[in-house]
Amino acid sequence: MQIRSLLSQRIEAAFTALGLSGQALLQSASRPEFGDYQANGVMAAAKRAGQNPREVAQAIIDAIDLDGIASDLSVAGPGFINITLAPQFIANAATSPQPSVDPQRVVVDYSGPNLAKEMHVGHLRGTIIGDCIARVLESLGHTVIRQNHVGDWGTQFGMLLTFMAEQEEASDSLADLENFYRQAKQRFDTDDDFQTRSRQAVVQLQSGNADMLVEWQKFIEISMSHCQSLYDRLRIDLSDADMDGESSYNDDLKHTIEHLDSQGLLTESDGAQCVFLDEFKNKDGEVQPVIVQKSDGGYLYATSDLACLRRRVGDFKADRVLYFVDARQTLHFKQVFAVAAAAGISNSKVELVHMPFGTMLGKDNKPFKTREGALVKLSELLDEAIARASKLLQEREVQNKNPDIDDAELAALAEIIGIGAVKYADLSKNRTSDYVFDWDQMLSFDGNTAPYLQYAYSRTRSIFTRSGVDASALPEHVISEGEPERRLAVAIAGYQDLLEQVALEGFPHQLCAYLYDLAGRFTQFYEQCPILTSDDAVKTRRLTLTKQTGDVLANGLTLLGIQVAERM
Ligand code: ARG
Repeated sequence: MQIRSLLSQRIEAAFTALGLSGQALLQSASRPEFGDYQANGVMAAAKRAGQNPREVAQAIIDAIDLDGIASDLSVAGPGFINITLAPQFIANAATSPQPSVDPQRVVVDYSGPNLAKEMHVGHLRGTIIGDCIARVLESLGHTVIRQNHVGDWGTQFGMLLTFMAEQEEASDSLADLENFYRQAKQRFDTDDDFQTRSRQAVVQLQSGNADMLVEWQKFIEISMSHCQSLYDRLRIDLSDADMDGESSYNDDLKHTIEHLDSQGLLTESDGAQCVFLDEFKNKDGEVQPVIVQKSDGGYLYATSDLACLRRRVGDFKADRVLYFVDARQTLHFKQVFAVAAAAGISNSKVELVHMPFGTMLGKDNKPFKTREGALVKLSELLDEAIARASKLLQEREVQNKNPDIDDAELAALAEIIGIGAVKYADLSKNRTSDYVFDWDQMLSFDGNTAPYLQYAYSRTRSIFTRSGVDASALPEHVISEGEPERRLAVAIAGYQDLLEQVALEGFPHQLCAYLYDLAGRFTQFYEQCPILTSDDAVKTRRLTLTKQTGDVLANGLTLLGIQVAERM
């Protein structure tokens, strides 16, 4: 049930009936005394018509029909309308995502590491944020096409292949990919002849030299298996089927250039093929080129993204293409989208969006590094998270309190909490800003953290264990009574709205904030409303609200890609 759009429609219909025009601008109320929702659009509509906003607000309240939906409407401040929902209306809310009325085909481009190295902390954000949005879209019935646009075709492979050819025990040395890469890079940086041979190797590779391709494939396989093991540990929904390597566009690059040419978009500049678009001017007002082919014939990152869009729009028939990529690539995507539009590769019916994210910082406010200044490997970060969670569980004496939790269950719990904490700390921050990585904060059981929400979920479950009531025997809907119950029920009823918003805007932190608020309301309810000691009717009602809360918490955390435990 989409409460916000329903209320907006009704209010906007009242605008029309009163000869006004405008948007209802509906928001969740910021304080309980303002009701559940607040319409902020009256002031603007009244102003445009030269009328008194408070009088207009009252006229709308008199005209509007919200029978069975709202129990109270009132004018507030300079002309807000405060809306309190009717208990029987709230009661009908669903606790799992409902299919969208307008299902779309959405390509979600995420993770996309450059291969031949292991994934490091810099890959975390683009991997987990994209994965969360893909899950949310899918839960709403959209067809999601996940695309892992890995960098598997760049100049680094010339270097690696040339270095490999010099090794005696080539396959042994590949076991430590990181080390292999470092050695090759050192050779490359210090030896001109090696550098020249590396560049030749790229040309051979890209022109399809069979021997080269066999060796290249080895790198890709080792590298991708590293990635896959991280995806599995992080519970990221990516597999071989979602691979969208740059290499897969190799044959299409020249067609892409031909296509740009046929549209009259290419200009030669210093031997390179460029697209000049008026919207890309430098500060002196000169139009800056988007280079699509270098003077030596080589293609660029932008060229493969254009070829890639031909596939996504032409073959995949995408309605939306969402790119979860570092904010530092903002100009790149602006250029790619603009060239694609000019060339007819995309069109106005397809929505192309770069959903940028900021950098994860260390406590020194600089990009997160080891003490030696190296980038932290993602696998090591996750190991540390689990080790810290395990220590935390020992400190909390979880096994003393629950003697039947054995060591295996405790270890599983440490993993759920540790990995959940790392993911949640990231997902709960506004993705467009940088954030400081802080172990103590993310592993705290207080505040907007994964352990807090996981614990809140397990508490809803333990209430059932203690009640002896089978959750599946409860009614689907109950009508709440009293403020704490009502506030909890209102939050549950707002879940669908929230998911629609996340699907549209691509900000997982909105889902986190929602779940955190829900858990807070549950705590208040739990403190103020006795459950197990109440008589049957009240107990059933409160247990049902408890179950609904648990269902939403579990569903929301699952959409964030975070696991829950029945007890902790
Ligand atoms: N491999 C790229 C990088 O590491 C990210 C790919 C993002 N996706 C895209 N379609 N360009 O910077």
